[in-house]
Amino acid sequence: MNEPDSFPAFYDDLALSFEEAWGLIVAGVTDRKSPCHMPIVGTVDALGMPQLRIMILRDASLDARTLRFHTDSRSIKAEQIAQNPATSVLIYDPEAKVQIRMSGKTLFTAIGDVADRAWSESTPFARRCYMAEAAPGTPSEEPSSGLPDWIAGKQPEEEQLADYRVNFAALLVEIETIEWLYLANAGHRRARWQWDSAQNSWAARWLIP
Ligand SMILES: Cc1cc2nc3c(=O)[nH]c(=O)nc-3n(C[C@H](O)[C@H](O)[C@H](O)COP(=O)(O)O)c2cc1C
Repeated sequence: MNEPDSFPAFYDDLALSFEEAWGLIVAGVTDRKSPCHMPIVGTVDALGMPQLRIMILRDASLDARTLRFHTDSRSIKAEQIAQNPATSVLIYDPEAKVQIRMSGKTLFTAIGDVADRAWSESTPFARRCYMAEAAPGTPSEEPSSGLPDWIAGKQPEEEQLADYRVNFAALLVEIETIEWLYLANAGHRRARWQWDSAQNSWAARWLIP
């Protein structure tokens, strides 16, 4: 109750809701405090089970309809994407009172310009994760970070990292649908945008929340 009389401009406006959604997503790339900075990314495993995990959002391009994430090329999610590129990305921003559900297909890029640039633009500390000797998810007899002992607690030098570039991959999720839920006491608003490749545009429609 006690919803203020003034509603956000996007409340009854599909185009402005779309702008608001992308505004939140794009801000999440650089704003580490934004919940959009660490979405939940879902893939499908070999048994058809959904598998979810938090990942840091590294880039968002409305023109390309892509979200970029970084991961270990030996990770379980990389294997899942190779088998089935279907991917969902979920964000909830409590301050904005907005849930954004996106789905599409992921392109796994371990080699090439996108991955090379993503690697060189990451801090040495962030790239240290890729120095793990065994693949992420490998069972271990001991509690372990997986990193070689000589780098524990240290920041690697550029030349020490070069050998580990092979363990790094950029994931490009190409978004096909975006679903929006805006929570308001006066009445929630739900909308969906579906990419129409024939029209080269987003087909928008309201949904009952
Ligand atoms: C705050 C936070 C940020 C994370 N960021 C990433 C990330 O950017 N990339 C990544 O591969 N894993 C990230 N992880 C770890 C994943 O959630 C997951 O545990 C790991 O990637 C193994 O997933 P998989 O076995 O499905 O491949 C993050 C975890 C947390 C809690």
